[in-house]
Amino acid sequence: MPVITCIEDLKALHRARVPRMFYDYADSGSYTQQTYRENSADFARLKLRQRVAVDMSGRSTATRMAGLDVSMPVALAPVGMTGMQHADGEILAARAAAQAGVPYCLSTMSICSIEDVAAAVPDPFMFQLYVMKDQEFLAGLIERAKAARCSALVLTLDLQILGQRHRDLKNGLSAPPRLSLPMLMDMATRWRWGMGMLRTRRRFFGNIVGHAKGVSAGDAASLMHWTAAQFDERLDWDKVARIRDMWGGKLILKGILDPDDARIAADFGADAIIVSNHGGRQLDGALSAIRMLPHIVAAVGDRVEIHLDSGIRSGQDVLKVLALGATGTWIGRAYIHGLGAMGEAGVTAALEVIRKELDITMALCGETRVTDLGRHNLLVPQGFE
Ligand code: FNR
Repeated sequence: MPVITCIEDLKALHRARVPRMFYDYADSGSYTQQTYRENSADFARLKLRQRVAVDMSGRSTATRMAGLDVSMPVALAPVGMTGMQHADGEILAARAAAQAGVPYCLSTMSICSIEDVAAAVPDPFMFQLYVMKDQEFLAGLIERAKAARCSALVLTLDLQILGQRHRDLKNGLSAPPRLSLPMLMDMATRWRWGMGMLRTRRRFFGNIVGHAKGVSAGDAASLMHWTAAQFDERLDWDKVARIRDMWGGKLILKGILDPDDARIAADFGADAIIVSNHGGRQLDGALSAIRMLPHIVAAVGDRVEIHLDSGIRSGQDVLKVLALGATGTWIGRAYIHGLGAMGEAGVTAALEVIRKELDITMALCGETRVTDLGRHNLLVPQGFE
């Protein structure tokens, strides 16, 4: 068992153990990857205030996110094709999250279906919805999420058209992968991954295959084609309202990056918003999520619960998000690196790394509860906001 001390360790193992096509899919941003890089780099620009001789006993990272009790304010973000990073990846990640006392959100573009995860994991999970053109399919997804007793619907608003990721095109990304010579050679050196894939029944987009008309499991090209053509470019706030009414439960709006959109989302009565640029995978050239956060907190902080994702790789990053006024965070790649590295144990390791970093950093800042963190813990450089 390798010694894991930080998310970078998991990232290195992920890279070594998972075929190039799927590692690259996780570790890339769109176009020049400027926003992808800045998401993390901007966290490093925020500095923490060290305080001493403050009683740091009895610390707690527990709080609430979107009405749920959580052991720390860190949820697992929806990630497409998680089941290609490790066989049954969605089930393993959902289990690790439940064990750690944090929320897990299943993507529309998952390999394991809503029903697969519900059958394997007794704890409730959230479901992330992409708005598709096929109304019957869309209504079906919402009904399936209700039947699985999903605790919230996370509606993603920033991917009705795909920001290009160069490496995915060059690698010919698909699920399952097309068996070319380079792919077979790649799989041969990453045999553990291949063995897992051979053992599982789940290699296709489980929420789509068998539910969307004209999509068959045997034809990866038809599946990718159907999916790409299905994102509804006509998505607007009226459609968001219709989805809210169809769902009727807790609704989290994901992909808000601008204060004007945040105001609309707050007027709309969302249960929470996630400030996000999709981990730098969509609008390249946008500001990092952490730099947009103060503007959004100023615009709607008193009216709607604010969470953030994009660029979080440590407990220190989580602390900075909370200090700038959000009450929850979501991680994508940080746990996907864990999953690719070591399956369920890797997701648990990622969460434990972050929990420990958050706890110790909080103590060194002179705080004992995540709910007490605030601006007073930060030195914000000029020009950051
Ligand atoms: C994502 N993300 C994402 N979001 C979503 O709403 N539905 C999805 O299917 C996916 N798929 C996806 C795949 C991969 C490989 C990544 C890395 C990300 C975005 C995700 O939910 C989250 O916003 C980002 O991952 C946050 O950034 P970090 O933590 O990865 O830097």
